[in-house]
Amino acid sequence: MIIEADLLIHSAAQVVTCASDVPKRGVAMQDVGVILDEAVVVKDGRILNIGPTKSIRQQYSASQTVDASGKVICPGFVDPHTHVVYAGDRLGEFEQRIRGATYLEIMAAGGGIVSTMRATRNASVDELAEATLPRLAQMLRLGTTTAEVKTGYGLDLDSELKMLEAIAVLDLAQPIDLVPTFMPAHAIPPEFNGRSDAYVDWVVNEMIPAAAAWYKGSHFLVDGRPLFCDVFCEQNAFNLAQSRQVLEAGLAHGLPPKIHADEFTSLGGVGLAVELGATSVDHLDVTSPEDGARLADSDAVGIVLPAVNFNLGSHDFADARALIDAGTAVALSTDINPGSAPCPSQPLVMAIATRYQRLLPAEAMNAVTINAAFGVGLGDKVGSLAVGKQADLLLLNCTDYRQLAYQFGGNLIDAVVKNGRLLSL
Ligand code: NIG
Ligand code: FE
Repeated sequence: MIIEADLLIHSAAQVVTCASDVPKRGVAMQDVGVILDEAVVVKDGRILNIGPTKSIRQQYSASQTVDASGKVICPGFVDPHTHVVYAGDRLGEFEQRIRGATYLEIMAAGGGIVSTMRATRNASVDELAEATLPRLAQMLRLGTTTAEVKTGYGLDLDSELKMLEAIAVLDLAQPIDLVPTFMPAHAIPPEFNGRSDAYVDWVVNEMIPAAAAWYKGSHFLVDGRPLFCDVFCEQNAFNLAQSRQVLEAGLAHGLPPKIHADEFTSLGGVGLAVELGATSVDHLDVTSPEDGARLADSDAVGIVLPAVNFNLGSHDFADARALIDAGTAVALSTDINPGSAPCPSQPLVMAIATRYQRLLPAEAMNAVTINAAFGVGLGDKVGSLAVGKQADLLLLNCTDYRQLAYQFGGNLIDAVVKNGRLLSL
């Protein structure tokens, strides 16, 4: 008996599954699960079967059939750390940095995150959504089908809730599934200069409870997507004690923790995040081997963001090679934001990570798919090709997935299937 399906993609040169029930660690990151001449069949937005083309074509017929000869099928990318919702740009700072100013100097002089805060506070939900849509469209064309998105350019109660609202509007307005993160502790707003403890009190006592209440009424809860809580644990941002206050308040309101730790200075954020059971620990540029070992022993995914170092003209990248060798489940992310990484491209991040962090193409592939999915708490739904999983997949214009990391500056994404639907890009 022939089984009816919605979409059947067959004859692929390679199907790269990245399949795993847990985040991949150590040598497991070198295995992407390549199978040859396979077909993938999709129904009701989910993967119904994967198998040899001949037997799949005998068992199934589909309303839409795609010949993937000469192409690779792989999971849609998950971008697990983004600040993609914002207004304005930071072109002036880009030039300041070219002339020699550092990111931290610009931040200390009242620019940086705070300058995007000003533009974001002045924008409406609709204006924020309109400014962000083209960026999400670019990410989709570059293969991203799920993305985490942080607040953190509002830095007051109303503006942070406005950012959450913009994330919800954007989630419904375009194909990429968004995973919201509440991050009022991204920078100290100018009104609180010299009074960071008072700002943290506001975050803890009012903003986080308000965000938790917002989440309870949002479609994200219904859809099984979490609302995370994040903090920038850094010199001139939030110290370790303040970071603890923020993440513990988030936990008390049901928001799982994430942290920006060890981007420029190490304040002990890794230990804190591990202690609190964080879903991910992000940046890790200056992490000590001791903290690396702590992270490897934990369930947290280590998210590294080499587009930031690249963009800041730095030659010092997070030692992702050592993190993987020590046993951390490493994921890669763009960190797309107007300051430290105006970059929508996970393939470019793979290209940087393979060159400057000595990840193998297979490790980079797992790092933008299954491990990234676990980094946003969705490892059971997306990030790999397996029966029953959401049918988010890419067709690549090449016969070997390693081309994705090998080439750079172009775009090998031939087609994107999101929730079982072949998109026209
Ligand atoms: O992840 N490090 C803090 N936050 C962002 C930068 C955001 C910005 O510069 O606007 C990051 O790099
Ligand atoms: Fe960030």
